[in-house]
Amino acid sequence: MAEYKLSVTTGGMRHAGTLDNIFIILFGTEGQSERTRLDNSGIDFKSGTASSILSYVTIKKTQQISSHLFAFNPLGGLHFTFFCAQTRTYSLKCSFSLGKLLLLKVEKDSFLHLLDDRWYCCKVEVMTPEGEEIAFPCFRWISSGEEVELRGGKALKVFEEEHPLLIDHRNKELKLRKSLYQWAVGDKKLPRHIHFTDISELPAEVQLSELRSDEIHHSKRKMNTELMFKGLAGSCKEWKSIEDLEKVFKSRKTSMSEYVSKHWKEDDFFGYQFLNGTNPNAIKRCSKLPPNFPVTEEMVKPCLPNGLTLKDEMEKGNIFLCDQRIMEGIPTRVKDGNPLHMTAGLCLFYMNPEGKLMPLAIQLNQKASAENPIFLPTDPEKDWLLAKLFFKSADLLECEVVHHLLITHFLSEVFAVATLRCFPTIHPLHKLLIPHFRFTLHINIMGREALLGPDGALCASSFGLEGLMELMGRGLSETTYSALCLPENITARGLDSIPNFYYRDDALKLWDVIESFVSSVVKDHYPSDDDVFKDTELQEWIDEIFTQGFLENKQSGVPASFHTVEEVVKFVTMVIFTVSVQHAAVNNGQFDFHSWIPNGSLQLQKPPPTFKGQSRMNTFLQALPNVGDSVKFAAMFWMLSDKYTDMVPLGAFPEERFSEPHLKQMIKDFQAELSYLSEEISLRNSKLQVPYAYLNPKQIENSVAV
Ligand SMILES: *[C@@H]1O[C@H](CO)[C@@H](O)[C@H](O)[C@H]1NC(C)=O
Ligand SMILES: *[C@@H]1O[C@H](CO)[C@@H](O)[C@H](O)[C@H]1NC(C)=O
Ligand SMILES: *[C@@H]1O[C@H](CO)[C@@H](O)[C@H](O)[C@H]1NC(C)=O
Ligand SMILES: [Fe+2]
Repeated sequence: MAEYKLSVTTGGMRHAGTLDNIFIILFGTEGQSERTRLDNSGIDFKSGTASSILSYVTIKKTQQISSHLFAFNPLGGLHFTFFCAQTRTYSLKCSFSLGKLLLLKVEKDSFLHLLDDRWYCCKVEVMTPEGEEIAFPCFRWISSGEEVELRGGKALKVFEEEHPLLIDHRNKELKLRKSLYQWAVGDKKLPRHIHFTDISELPAEVQLSELRSDEIHHSKRKMNTELMFKGLAGSCKEWKSIEDLEKVFKSRKTSMSEYVSKHWKEDDFFGYQFLNGTNPNAIKRCSKLPPNFPVTEEMVKPCLPNGLTLKDEMEKGNIFLCDQRIMEGIPTRVKDGNPLHMTAGLCLFYMNPEGKLMPLAIQLNQKASAENPIFLPTDPEKDWLLAKLFFKSADLLECEVVHHLLITHFLSEVFAVATLRCFPTIHPLHKLLIPHFRFTLHINIMGREALLGPDGALCASSFGLEGLMELMGRGLSETTYSALCLPENITARGLDSIPNFYYRDDALKLWDVIESFVSSVVKDHYPSDDDVFKDTELQEWIDEIFTQGFLENKQSGVPASFHTVEEVVKFVTMVIFTVSVQHAAVNNGQFDFHSWIPNGSLQLQKPPPTFKGQSRMNTFLQALPNVGDSVKFAAMFWMLSDKYTDMVPLGAFPEERFSEPHLKQMIKDFQAELSYLSEEISLRNSKLQVPYAYLNPKQIENSVAV
């Protein structure tokens, strides 16, 4: 008689438990066990108490609550009480030993035949009669009638498989994955996306948690009710005064959004936002004026300290430029018979001796001409304000569409789909990457509807769907591999030494911490370049990303295959950085910075000024969207940057997919580094008048999940 001891862990999320019958079959080199029902007295698969705590906090969402769900321990490890709740042990008896264990099959049989009582199984740990302990990670929902075959033990690459049963299993799994997750072509200029069009079709393993989906709906309902109640939603009224704007979203203020609404007119805060705001991606050092932007010494003299010239300051590296060329000539939409507006401007900045970035000159269209004046801080106040409004609005739209939606959301989806299709669960890169795609497919399907659908918030912008697609297409064709790798990006833009650039300071450190973690995990599994070469699954993965994501654009510099271990380390670092850090940088401050519409608007109802001295406050208010559209945008920003209770921060892997002690240690080291960095950033922020907290590791989610 051989006895196998099984420890079965059920998830702690809401409704993770099940009343259904669970059967297990073990497969080993010497044969297979009988199909055995797991049955102890009492309810076997309860989700434990954590779930009741969670449903209780559903309504209130503050950081304090999310932080009591997990605590940083002194070693830097994170404990997620809500992830895995309860473990029960069972005995499975065989008449003979099964030899080396290969596979564990889980079957769920419906107990109440009408209901699908899903079960979230974290893992099954098996103690063999020979005294070996093997973990079979599962970490997914299992529906009735589903059979799930789990592999245990250490991660393996395809050429390391020896046993015929496992080779066969690996092939079957990949075939299933490829039929389950398919690429679909939307707009021809854009990355391919997942073929599901409705969230109800999504396999359980990639669906949003019930908790998060409730919170999103709750937030949306609350927002809508509030706006209805105030008679703002759908209102066609135009704004009459700045004070009217202040009345909106009274209950929705954050300290940052309040700060923005007080300081929006100030030039230094205008400059601040190009470094420390939600779009730190566009500005670069300027060593020579573009020929289409004829700023003269005369124009900027009043704004430079006595005796300094533009030429000298340019040589010293104190002059910066933001060029919105990518927006040029994109068709705008017509609203109620009137064309909407958006410009493609240029703005010159000066890094002054106090370390503040001050705008020096703004030209709103690309082609220099008499009707395209260069606006200056010394112009009449309303002219300058209007110029800043147009420039900032274009920056906002570009940031939302290119830097947020395309580069973080849609590229994350490409990485996610390629990972789901090309790697079996036993592959080391599946184990490493899959936590970084939590909820991404679900969120993007919802996002395509909520932002780009017929009633979508972004389609209410000046561009409309056609313009948005055009902009995104241009964005993709200009996106290079090097642009996605932060250290290269910062250097290419000449921003290595510009002072007070907190996005750069925090993001570069995060890049290094991620890279060193990725490097240790990848090198552990790929000791030589030959391992990279032989891993056909890995090669297929990068080929799908190149083909489906970057549309085979060789000029992008995105690799189509890997030759060295270093190449793999760099690419995987970029993937994790993009879906976590870069997304947090462009996502988390949206409400803070953009709910105050005068500070930049996705829609502009009036053309840009063509002459100076004719603008009034009225002109400014008329350019803004009407009340209904303004609140629609603000509501979108709220939804997109809200915080959710079951957020998993960067580096926390509540799903234990790696079982080897040295790999677990690498994760702990990674978490310790992040924890130090978090303290360092908090300390710095405590000394700042306006803290930059978006890249505090505790605030960065592991995946694009909102
Ligand atoms: C946006 O905000 C910044 C800082 O608050 C301000 O300087 C800038 O003028 C605002 N933009 C517009 C268009 O008003
Ligand atoms: C960035 O933010 C910090 C903190 O508020 C501020 O001191 C610094 O001046 C900002 N940088 C610029 C260029 O405005
Ligand atoms: C830097 O990154 C941003 C955002 O990904 C991108 O739009 C920009 O083109 C990059 N710039 C350079 C010079 O790589
Ligand atoms: Fe987002």
